[in-house]
Amino acid sequence: MPNRDEAFELLKEYNGDALVTHGLAVEGTMRYFAKKYDGDEETWGIVGLLHDLDYEKYPEEHCIKTQEIMQKHGYSEEIIRAIMSHGYGICTDIEPISDMEKTLYAVDELTGLITACALVRPSKSVMDLEVKSVKKKFKTKSFAAGASREVIQKGADMLGIELSELMGEVILAMRAIAPELGLDMKE
Ligand SMILES: [Fe+2]
Ligand SMILES: [Fe+2]
Repeated sequence: MPNRDEAFELLKEYNGDALVTHGLAVEGTMRYFAKKYDGDEETWGIVGLLHDLDYEKYPEEHCIKTQEIMQKHGYSEEIIRAIMSHGYGICTDIEPISDMEKTLYAVDELTGLITACALVRPSKSVMDLEVKSVKKKFKTKSFAAGASREVIQKGADMLGIELSELMGEVILAMRAIAPELGLDMKE
């Protein structure tokens, strides 16, 4: 099976900066949650990194193309299934079942919302972003409208945790990799 660096090369082969950064955000968050759920960090990380592998080139075949590409590269069924399940009810009918799958489903859109929340701060950073302000923006549907509030809420429900707790954890996860995401304090 390809390792993390090979996975990162594959991601860059298919995607430009925006989706590469999104992949890094979800990777870091997945690794953070792997520690909480006693999962394998490398596996959870690769799932996060590659979950939108096909999205730039094949948006109409999202998840389906990723399955094809990843099978060709020798990724495990566990990893491929997890990635397919983040499109549950949208582009696949594969339900998130494992902790790894539910976590991916819950954090994918939320990392996008949190990034948007950070970028409108004077600091443009996640380091001084608090749950309170994410919650407020969550309720403002026109803000970062692409980040599906319904999916985020459904993800929290699947994991059986409160939305504010999920937000707090994802903020902490993203702070740990803020420089890679360009969301650290600039001065
Ligand atoms: Fe996706
Ligand atoms: Fe995504």
